Amino acid sequence: MMLRCRVNLSTMVLLVVLQGATVVLFCGWYLRLAPCGAAAPSPGGKVHVVLLSSWRSGSSFLGQAFSQHPSVFYLMEPAWHVWTRLQKPGARSLRMAVRDLLRSVFQCDLSAMEAYLPDNHNVSTLFMWSHSRALCSPPACPLTPRGRLSNQTLCLQRCDARGLRGVQEACATYSHVVLKEVRFFELESLYPLLRDPALDVRIVHLVRDPRAVMRSREASAKAFLRDNAILLEQRSVPAGELQYQVMQEICRSHVRINERAVAKPPPFLKGRYKMIRYEDLARNPLEEIRAVFRFVGLDLTEPLGRWVYGVTHGKGKGSRKEAFDITSRNAADVSQAWRTSLPHEKVRRVQRVCQGAMALLGYRAVSSEQEQKRLDVDLLAPREPYQFSWLPANTPPPPPHPGQD
Ligand SMILES: *[C@@H]1O[C@H](CO)[C@@H](O)[C@H](O)[C@H]1NC(C)=O
Ligand SMILES: *[C@@H]1O[C@H](CO)[C@@H](O)[C@H](O)[C@H]1NC(C)=O
Repeated sequence: MMLRCRVNLSTMVLLVVLQGATVVLFCGWYLRLAPCGAAAPSPGGKVHVVLLSSWRSGSSFLGQAFSQHPSVFYLMEPAWHVWTRLQKPGARSLRMAVRDLLRSVFQCDLSAMEAYLPDNHNVSTLFMWSHSRALCSPPACPLTPRGRLSNQTLCLQRCDARGLRGVQEACATYSHVVLKEVRFFELESLYPLLRDPALDVRIVHLVRDPRAVMRSREASAKAFLRDNAILLEQRSVPAGELQYQVMQEICRSHVRINERAVAKPPPFLKGRYKMIRYEDLARNPLEEIRAVFRFVGLDLTEPLGRWVYGVTHGKGKGSRKEAFDITSRNAADVSQAWRTSLPHEKVRRVQRVCQGAMALLGYRAVSSEQEQKRLDVDLLAPREPYQFSWLPANTPPPPPHPGQD
């Protein structure tokens, strides 16, 4: 009895010592794999970019700059599939579905996307698929070698395929997944993605002068009927009011998003949000794109720099019917086209419904038709005061007529 007990005791001591040693050894080995405390970066170090914008705000152009980059897997508007699949929905009830779809696509899982596609879908079923260089390059398609610029016309002809397996395989081979969305009107529904340790999310928020957006939307009003109804939660609105109510929603969303991210960002948003104005992009395309790329950890390659210069320094003054068209034209001229073509009455109404957004984003209102048409009057306030909160809130706005320089 005594003996057995002693044996048991020493055995127990031995076991405890062994167990302790095992824990120490195992933990040391384990710590080397995953340092304690540090939030693990996303597996594979992938960066996930939401290019957040609104209709007709130049997001196709900025999206193309991303898309052509050899490290980027780019898709346009996953939310389009959600918005068009359901009958008479409202934006509010769709946003969680959109958010979850984004999460899946960020993780290169296209099965969530397939839920919104018809049976027997092809790569070409994806919205504006040929705008994505990655879908025109190996392993999705042999056409465009990695590192070369994509030709959309050729891609359309040669890169369609059945199913999305190639798309999914392609996605996995890139360091950056960039998704363009014009169908988010707040940031809160993206919070779970920002907090998800499996993702490294950056938000690039592209805004544009609402008067220019108004002009561009008017040029193809029919294309927006369905989206308008969803945005306005299927409310019935008199025809003459519709565009202004839509603009008001869009402008409010810019304010909501920007204030949320800049004024009092939650900790997981810090350093993950960058706002960019279309007009700055049009005036200094190379500089602005380089800055956006730096923000997400991409470099501006030389061929890409030449491409950007080419598409922003062409001819044409915004007379083209489609803003989706990324053909060469003078981007700086296009951004001013509203001033000669949008009737002053409409300008005033847009200025009224978008007053808050214009003040926040640095777009100066015009007070007369003459001022509107005088293109030497610069309506773009320098961006700096609008990005830093150390300026007193009651700083007077810069004078509407800058000097003759
Ligand atoms: C794309 O390819 C087509 C057909 O070869 C050609 O006509 C067109 O000029 C190319 N486009 C660009 C932008 O290179
Ligand atoms: C899908 O692609 C296949 C060939 O890859 C083609 O034969 C078929 O017509 C396409 N279907 C659709 C709906 O585009």
